[in-house]
Amino acid sequence: MKTTIHGPILITGAAGQVGAVGRTVTGLLLERGLPVRALVRREDERAAALRAAGAEVVVGDLLEPADVYRVVLGCRRVYFGMSVSASYLEATVTMAAVAREVGVEALVNMSQMTVSQMNIQNTTPSPQQRQHWLSEQTLAWSGLPVVTIRPTVFLEGFFLPVTGPSVRDRGRIELPFGEGKTNPVAAADVARVIAAVLADPKPHLGRIYELTGPRSQDMNGVAREYSEALNREVTYADITSDDWARQLKKAGLPEYLTKHLVTMAELNRAGRYDRLADGVARVTGQPPISIREFVSHHADKFGGLQTTNTKI
Ligand SMILES: NC(=O)c1ccc[n+]([C@@H]2O[C@H](COP(=O)([O-])OP(=O)(O)OC[C@H]3O[C@@H](n4cnc5c(N)ncnc54)[C@H](OP(=O)(O)O)[C@@H]3O)[C@@H](O)[C@H]2O)c1
Repeated sequence: MKTTIHGPILITGAAGQVGAVGRTVTGLLLERGLPVRALVRREDERAAALRAAGAEVVVGDLLEPADVYRVVLGCRRVYFGMSVSASYLEATVTMAAVAREVGVEALVNMSQMTVSQMNIQNTTPSPQQRQHWLSEQTLAWSGLPVVTIRPTVFLEGFFLPVTGPSVRDRGRIELPFGEGKTNPVAAADVARVIAAVLADPKPHLGRIYELTGPRSQDMNGVAREYSEALNREVTYADITSDDWARQLKKAGLPEYLTKHLVTMAELNRAGRYDRLADGVARVTGQPPISIREFVSHHADKFGGLQTTNTKI
């Protein structure tokens, strides 16, 4: 039975930058034949591509209440997510105020899995993780019909850009994760969950979905999956947190993002990313993709697949 939707589904952060969840969700909803209003910050080639794919593209700033009101008006379902930013909580509260005023039937909120382990006595030093925790609190108080998405670290948004160059140049994953286990999830799987929820939100209202990949393992296990995918040896080198922070600073990352990433690495080292959750399969009916499948799919970004036979 086809669901009737009153008005388009609003997707924020639709242009995509790091994990590009909003852009992928837009594509998935359009493929289902659902109307999408895609919020971008500026008119550029990404906005043109969204328009060409069939989305109604609107330009606005999530920190400008009047912009947010203009883009939400007429929509009953909303995906709220934007890039890691010092103003994340302000954007969330603005969206909550507007969604209450307009009256939406579902607000799907991007959060982080670290929030599952946080409470008043125990937050983390990452300003972004704290803002997600506070954002979730605020949305709970708002009384809005919220669905919370808590993914662990992304393959697209973290492992690909951070480990791609060193795997390509030196056959090494260089990260300060120690012996901690981790279980990254593909942003594409996160987007599939969000699209499924937005297509039929009612059964999901009030729920929290924790999303991980299929296997929690230490970085030597992760390196083995890279090796199998690329048909050449990839090893793990445990570097110090200070060295990594210096590298991030040298690469020109903003201090806010660096602090978030360094905290994330420290939590990984402490075993706090050793998680296995079934959210992807529960919502989509399909298992999440593995690191091996992901690296194999993006082999060119990791220096390519070795086609001659080598012992790995
Ligand atoms: N990366 C990870 O490993 C990971 C893991 C778990 C959860 N998360 C969460 O996922 C979210 C990021 O998702 P993502 O990687 O899919 O996002 P993304 O692609 O990096 O960003 C989405 C878009 O947000 C837009 N944006 C930023 N500030 C805006 C503003 N003031 N008004 C309107 N648009 C704005 C950006 O526009 P421009 O491109 O034009 O700047 C960007 O295209 C964050 O909440 C993060 O905490 C990330």
